Amino acid sequence: MTPAADSSAGRPDAALVGDLTLEQQVSLTGGADFLSTHAVGDVPSVTLVDGPAGLRMQDLDAGADHLGLRPSIPATAFPLPVAVAQTWDSALVRRLGEALGTEAQAAGVGVLLGPGINIKRDPRAGRNFEYFSEDPLLTGVLATSYVQGLQSRGVGASLKHFAANNAEHERFRSSSDVDPRPLREIYLRAFQRVVQEARPWSVMCSYNRLNGVPNSENRWLLTRVLREEWQFEGAVISDWGAVDDRVVSIRAGLDLDMPAGSGRQEALVRSAVEHGELTAADLEDAAGRVARLAATAATAARPDTVWDQAEHHALAREIAGRSIVLLKNDQGTLPLRPDARVALLGDFAVEPRFQAGGSSHVWATRVDVPADELASALPDAHIVVERTTVAEADGNGAAARTRGLEAARDADVAVVFIGPTGAEEAEGFDRDHIELSDEHVALVRDVAAVQPRTVAVVMHGGLVRLAPVVPFAAAIVDASLLGQAAGGAVADVLTGAVNPSGRIAETVPERLEDAPSYLDFPGTALHVRYGEGIFVGYRGYDARGLAVTFPFGHGLSYTTFGYSGLRVTTTASGDLDLDLTVVNTGTRAGREIVQAYVGLSTSTVPRAPRELMAFSPVELDAGESADVTMTIGRQDLAFWDVGIDGWRVEGGDYTVSVGSSSRDLRVTVAVRVVGDDVSRPLTLSSSLAEVLADPVAGQVFGTVLAAMFPAPESDARSSDTGGFDIVRMIGSTPVGRFVSSLGDRMTREQAEAILEEANSGRVTTGSS
Ligand code: BGC
Repeated sequence: MTPAADSSAGRPDAALVGDLTLEQQVSLTGGADFLSTHAVGDVPSVTLVDGPAGLRMQDLDAGADHLGLRPSIPATAFPLPVAVAQTWDSALVRRLGEALGTEAQAAGVGVLLGPGINIKRDPRAGRNFEYFSEDPLLTGVLATSYVQGLQSRGVGASLKHFAANNAEHERFRSSSDVDPRPLREIYLRAFQRVVQEARPWSVMCSYNRLNGVPNSENRWLLTRVLREEWQFEGAVISDWGAVDDRVVSIRAGLDLDMPAGSGRQEALVRSAVEHGELTAADLEDAAGRVARLAATAATAARPDTVWDQAEHHALAREIAGRSIVLLKNDQGTLPLRPDARVALLGDFAVEPRFQAGGSSHVWATRVDVPADELASALPDAHIVVERTTVAEADGNGAAARTRGLEAARDADVAVVFIGPTGAEEAEGFDRDHIELSDEHVALVRDVAAVQPRTVAVVMHGGLVRLAPVVPFAAAIVDASLLGQAAGGAVADVLTGAVNPSGRIAETVPERLEDAPSYLDFPGTALHVRYGEGIFVGYRGYDARGLAVTFPFGHGLSYTTFGYSGLRVTTTASGDLDLDLTVVNTGTRAGREIVQAYVGLSTSTVPRAPRELMAFSPVELDAGESADVTMTIGRQDLAFWDVGIDGWRVEGGDYTVSVGSSSRDLRVTVAVRVVGDDVSRPLTLSSSLAEVLADPVAGQVFGTVLAAMFPAPESDARSSDTGGFDIVRMIGSTPVGRFVSSLGDRMTREQAEAILEEANSGRVTTGSS
């Protein structure tokens, strides 16, 4: 191997490995075992462990796997991202990241494999519990805080799964076929935000293909977009087993192929360098970035870190409490009175569902039981617990159910725990429906028939359809997957010790068939067409004016809030500063998630009626009011303009609405935004309408047009008394073809000269 002193000039990562042999450099680009890289020369090894909701550090001697099947060291099982997103609380998510970083440090882990930030395109997608939201802004903002918190503890994040990995079906072979606009505006936008604002140490490329090209071999994705456009400086790591040919992957911009394999890939890379199929520089770049990652982790390592299990459990409970969404609460069914007679029904009251299967699976330090936690929170209450469902298996189901119904009838309130089982949702497969079991729906219905004050507590990873239980349950509590402190957190909300402030991060539709992606999921013949384009989640439900069971951003509180006085001002850099007053109009302290949505009804491209552009939690005592300020970055107003292959802010009067959910908007103002001065050069292929819109060329062509089509004289034989709108009728004609019809009036050369003159005065911008 030629020392790389010269060739690595200006490539600082490459310089780190310039003195290593070819063999050593190659070994850096692959795993040493299931969860660590090779130590080579001065380059240390780094350990990479899942993520995202707790540490999954397995004992290699006992066997490691990427599905969380074998045990791992005890770690705090924090709420899953499905829950964390429902906090809408960046400061809290940062604390989650810090705690994860601390546990990782104590275990000698340099990189935590998370967070997962793929967009919830379809409610059936099997790993939605590991992802945040159907909305890229909410996802991006919260994940930025997660990464910042984690990395502040000297542990790197691995932002995953890059990119357009929105289903589990055929996850290794399926191609996500996505048009440029939805790709940029929906699927890449959160990645872009986190990369640019939090600078994760690594990004994990996913198994799937994007528009036919495997992500692990996609140079456009890994180099052009990630490194060149977004200035990502970290290492690109493969998902476990995502690499088919390491040579092609390195050429595309991948650095680390995980986990260790048979040695075949190393041989391929060596041979490719020897035969000039892979440049020494490409290998040095990849190995150098792995070396940088390992060195950064080694420098930041704090092996003497200790953490307190009780303290982290308390944090898990706090986050879980803030994640819970009170979806419905008729007649003040909740909170429970301290001396209430309560019937607790359903298996999850005793064995809570708090996480899901797969690589995110954690061996918790302890698990709170909802029934026990409620009993200790309400010592004066009379609580009867009946599992009602699990006994079915041993033939006693009917008896347990009868006892449960009797307990419900005799109580003041019945709390019924429902939701899919762990076997129904896990990494590796999608669901084919989003229904609660018939048994759970019947249980809620039958309990409600004897007890009008029936509360349904829903534990679930992916979204479940709630329309079948809404008519029966007086109150509905969304407990998603809350981690090991689920029991305590549910008790906190049921008793009112925590006033719920969670908001759903994914629309609950009336029917699965209403989901925008319904017909294009999970795809055919290894291709998934993202046919709904940008209309994902609430963008799609709103654009089609569909009724939904619970809209994006929805969540109730035990108090109420009023909104007034929205003012929007434009800053010098084009951001929008929002200022309004929020008042707690109820009788107890509470927390409101103030949400700002923006729409542009005059847009020249199809757009959702409104999009989330800012949010801010605010805590208020009863009767208290506060001034809430939020900023909408100009970049967030932009859409991806396929014509210029770049972001563009359109000029116009935007509608800014602020409220309590995407469909509970309380105050609205219009604000004029000056658009980006972006125009495409005019050519003979431009449309006549485009040419007419130009001040220079438009004048010339307008005169020609007026001469060709003088205003028609009124003619009784024609029913068209208003004349014809010529520009509208022929405006789509390519100007070259229009010129051909002009004969001597204008030659092609003259037209080209006019367009050239017009172009010299136009501002043209590419992607930024
Ligand atoms: C998952 C990743 C995970 C990796 C390592 C893969 O199956 O897709 O999310 O980080 O395994 O466990």
